[in-house]
Amino acid sequence: MRSVVLAISGSLREPSFTEKILDLCIKGLGENQEVHKFYPHKMNIGPCKGCRSCWKPKTPGECVQKDDFEQILDVYKRADYFLLATPLYFFDLPATVKNVIDRFFIILEPAQIKSDEGGSTHPKRLGRHPKAALISSCGFAEIENFDLLRQHFRLICEHTDWSWSGEILVSEAGAAAAPKLFDRKYNLIEKAGAELLEGMISQKTTNAIAAPVMPAEDYRRMVTLNFEGGVIAKAKVSLIAIKAMRDKKKIRE
Ligand SMILES: Cc1cc2nc3c(=O)[nH]c(=O)nc-3n(C[C@H](O)[C@H](O)[C@H](O)COP(=O)(O)O)c2cc1C
Repeated sequence: MRSVVLAISGSLREPSFTEKILDLCIKGLGENQEVHKFYPHKMNIGPCKGCRSCWKPKTPGECVQKDDFEQILDVYKRADYFLLATPLYFFDLPATVKNVIDRFFIILEPAQIKSDEGGSTHPKRLGRHPKAALISSCGFAEIENFDLLRQHFRLICEHTDWSWSGEILVSEAGAAAAPKLFDRKYNLIEKAGAELLEGMISQKTTNAIAAPVMPAEDYRRMVTLNFEGGVIAKAKVSLIAIKAMRDKKKIRE
């Protein structure tokens, strides 16, 4: 039977590097999937008003806002996988993506209960536990820039009963345009998709994808030169990329 994949493609720009990663992961999941990809910024989705209408006994789980979130919710009701692909914005989710997450308030019941982790949580409606994976890219070199987002996504999963199933995190996005530098990462991202199909993305694959392609200082110089423009800057960028390729080759040998 085909699995249902709910994918949020959260970047507001085209082409999106994060979406490229998302597509590779979907490819890794194989062909036997029913994939529904949503672009929150292109949809008419109002922010959660916090009116608690969905908590009222007469309208449980019903939102007062009749908008495009219903499309996402319809797929969610059948989803086996939830892929949240988002660029890193100020160390967390862009507002348009957070807006979608907030609308999942509708799956929470008003009661407060003790969570498995010992804190407080709400019982959930709809009984869905899709395998949820976080996919993100960022412009700084260090993978630690994702720390807050990673923690946030864990908490979202805990409080929605989505089954946390791994992470694909790519820093140094400003180097992705250099030929071949990211080819190994791209293969590994497809592998991560295949692993997700088997259960979850392994820590080993997550770490291999996250491995830097060049020293942070070189990367900072490269992206700074990228924005300077001009022939000389372009030549310097190429030299940094060639050095990174050579260093990678040396490590493999
Ligand atoms: C508003 C904004 C905020 C950003 N904040 C961060 C950040 O906190 N840390 C970081 O490393 N990169 C940050 N970036 C860079 C993006 O995360 C990075 O370019 C990403 O790869 C873009 O993905 P996309 O091509 O899918 O949009 C930011 C970019 C924008 C436009």
